[in-house]
Amino acid sequence: MARLLIVHHSPTPTVQALTDAVVAGAHDDEIEGVEVVVRPALEATADDVLGADGYLLGTTANFGYMSGALKHFFDTIFLEAGGALTEDGSAGSSGGGKKPYGLWVHGRYDTTGAVRSVQSIVGALPWRQAAEVLDVLGEVGDEQRAAAYELGGTLAALLGEGA
Ligand SMILES: Cc1cc2nc3c(=O)[nH]c(=O)nc-3n(C[C@H](O)[C@H](O)[C@H](O)COP(=O)(O)O)c2cc1C
Repeated sequence: MARLLIVHHSPTPTVQALTDAVVAGAHDDEIEGVEVVVRPALEATADDVLGADGYLLGTTANFGYMSGALKHFFDTIFLEAGGALTEDGSAGSSGGGKKPYGLWVHGRYDTTGAVRSVQSIVGALPWRQAAEVLDVLGEVGDEQRAAAYELGGTLAALLGEGA
């Protein structure tokens, strides 16, 4: 069975609502053959990453960057997960990879820097972006929840039977 790892930082009810919708989408009844593992970003381990076939990452935007919690996740798992560091210690380029990932970011003002910060690190992992980034500013309503559900379903379907 394929495994989808969902790593998220969801510190407020607004963000948790998005995360819940992503997780629900990943469990869509139409998708079979996928085990979904959900981990708060501060608890996810390199073994979680190595044992997964695809990833969904969720974070708030903080100070124009990803949350400290998701950054901690990357700091912890990066090398074991096959990340490429340059000589000065910055994230290099993996030259592309096979494992699909998706990303959602919630902010109140501007999530550009947060999205970029995740993409620059993931660009050094053997992963490939498999869905458009879900970028949500402000309140989370039906439209945002539906988009989050769709994101969860998209990644799970990529890993599901027949994929
Ligand atoms: C210290 C701090 C820094 C933040 N920086 C940003 C930011 O750079 N861009 C942005 O869009 N939102 C920023 N926010 C807003 C958070 O992303 C937002 O509060 C979080 O996603 C939770 O959403 P909520 O407050 O609507 O529940 C920041 C919030 C805090 C507390």
